[in-house]
Amino acid sequence: MLEEKGKHDLLKIVRQISDMIYVSYVRQKEALGLGHAVLTARELIGDEPFATLLADDVIDAKVPVLKQMMKVFEEKQCSVIATQIVEGPAISSYGVLKAKPVAGSGGKLFEVLDLVEKPKLADAPSNLAVIGRYILTPTVFETLANTKPGAGGELQLTDGLRGLLRREKIYAYVYEGRRFDAGDKLGFLKATVDFALKRKDLGGEFREYLKGLKL
Ligand code: G1P
Repeated sequence: MLEEKGKHDLLKIVRQISDMIYVSYVRQKEALGLGHAVLTARELIGDEPFATLLADDVIDAKVPVLKQMMKVFEEKQCSVIATQIVEGPAISSYGVLKAKPVAGSGGKLFEVLDLVEKPKLADAPSNLAVIGRYILTPTVFETLANTKPGAGGELQLTDGLRGLLRREKIYAYVYEGRRFDAGDKLGFLKATVDFALKRKDLGGEFREYLKGLKL
């Protein structure tokens, strides 16, 4: 259609994107939880480590967070979870880690000792929240397949990781970057404004527009 309509600039963008990678996908036919979603990809992934990205955690970083985490994976050859400090009652919206700092990592790397999905503030084992970037070993498929539904009646990835912890080490990595919770309406708006301001083609005009608002 773009070709017929002579929209060659747009066509070029579409072609560039589709030439970057091959995309395969499986659908999770019922909303049975994040753990179930990951398990749905088992046949597609097979027996190799893989990355899981939760798209509502939008992170702006100089070095992409997964790239930062791959460095840790390459060194440790164990699963790696992204983490961030979350203070106060907001911690109850996250998976929360019990973890010990890895000596010499400057507080950036932790060995995970336990993890719990969305605990009450009083029960939270620390202020280290799980953020939606994971590099996981395929063993997690076995533990997820043997995990019962948890918080919210859903099969939780966090519970599958708890099972994984009985068999393999897991590390938590304090990533460098700025995160927006785009699963939250306000977070989504903040991300939109922030990213729009950074765009070369729109940023200037958009900034002027914002300045002109009577706030
Ligand atoms: C999911 C995970 C949770 C994690 C969070 C990060 O929760 O279950 O462990 O801390 O993503 O964004 P959700 O936000 O889907 O409720």
